Amino acid sequence: RAVLLTGLVGAGAGVATGAGAALARGREAPPADDRLQRARASARAFRGEHQAGILEAPPPHASFVALDLREDADRDAVRRLLTVWTDDVERLMAGRGPLTDLEPELAAVPASLTVTVGVGPRVVALAGAEKPSWLAPLPAFPEIDRLEDAWSGGDLLLQVCADSPTTVSHAQRRLTAAVADLATVRWVQRGFREPFEGPGLPMRNLLGQVDGTVQPDVTGLDAGLLWVGDDGPAWLRGGSSVVVRRIGMRLDAWDRADRLSRENAIGRRLDTGAPVTGGRVDTAADLEAKDELGFHVVDDAAHLRRAHATAPHERFLRRPYSYDDGTGAETRAGLVFVAFQADPVRQLVPVQRRLAELDLLNLWTVPVGSAVFAVLPGARPGEVLGEAMFA
Ligand code: HEM
Repeated sequence: RAVLLTGLVGAGAGVATGAGAALARGREAPPADDRLQRARASARAFRGEHQAGILEAPPPHASFVALDLREDADRDAVRRLLTVWTDDVERLMAGRGPLTDLEPELAAVPASLTVTVGVGPRVVALAGAEKPSWLAPLPAFPEIDRLEDAWSGGDLLLQVCADSPTTVSHAQRRLTAAVADLATVRWVQRGFREPFEGPGLPMRNLLGQVDGTVQPDVTGLDAGLLWVGDDGPAWLRGGSSVVVRRIGMRLDAWDRADRLSRENAIGRRLDTGAPVTGGRVDTAADLEAKDELGFHVVDDAAHLRRAHATAPHERFLRRPYSYDDGTGAETRAGLVFVAFQADPVRQLVPVQRRLAELDLLNLWTVPVGSAVFAVLPGARPGEVLGEAMFA
């Protein structure tokens, strides 16, 4: 007991003569290390043609929060909510606390924070705006879907992403608390991505696969696949849509499959992410290649083959995160599959339909949640998010 006490006193004394004493004497704290300085400086731009949180490389921490408007919500309530969020998000992304923030210190490290706001059909109806034809739940995929209400639907979506989990947590709390009299939280899906992969390897999901390799060129030639254009409702130009599907992984069953079967299921090597037909991670898979017996090298039911676009419009931007609630129960870990596209019915549904009909990956994955939101256009200087909905 005496030793323990001595130890504690010793530890305490150490603090008092170290940083604590320096602060007490009013000296400057030691300079923050590089990582902290970078995190402080890394504020993303809030204002612009598009919302933030779509084109940026996804940072390691995210929270997807769906909210439901209160039953008596009207047009005014929606406008009020979006006005509050516009100001709060702008401040949070700049590293300043919202006006009502009692701990603005928690906002001081923006850590590349982005907040992306989506709306469901009820919000559009209350605002009196034209509903995009695709703004509805995805069609059912009875072969694979085991959807739970607890992870599906919602009137509003916040996608909160940052390099720091504290920043994500604080932003989420401030933004949900700020509108608590207007909307209640329906579901929250926390996600993470591997921050330590090498350049060119987008992320490793919990099946160990390199995930997110083949993507459209949405900052160049394929921008029309991402942003709503002249053929969509005027209020949504420069906006997009997001599909959020919670897909559980049967990790115990995956462990029992041999490595060849696991690589065959996707059509890519587990270690490098390269196609089973050879090359590197960025080599295009040769879907026509055959082995000596005349069978396709990329299995006819491999995820890669089944997901591959059969027409140029069947493409979308995937921005997934892993999840794991830590309990170890079946499907308690998996993928928050997140896809952005101008029109999910035209671009994503044909692919999802093919995957539901046949995909080796279905042996180990089970969709338990699904939601679709219209992603508002960006707020230009002086504008409120979603302002054009009320025009
Ligand atoms: C490709 C994993 C669900 C669409 C891939 C790849 C992996 C993967 C490892 C290969 C590397 C890459 O290009 O990213 C998964 C897992 C899923 C899942 C673990 C579920 C837990 C989905 C869903 C869709 C989808 C639901 C669409 C509805 C695609 C597409 C590709 C792809 C379009 C690229 C195909 C190509 O090479 O052209 N996925 N995926 N995936 N996945 Fe998935």
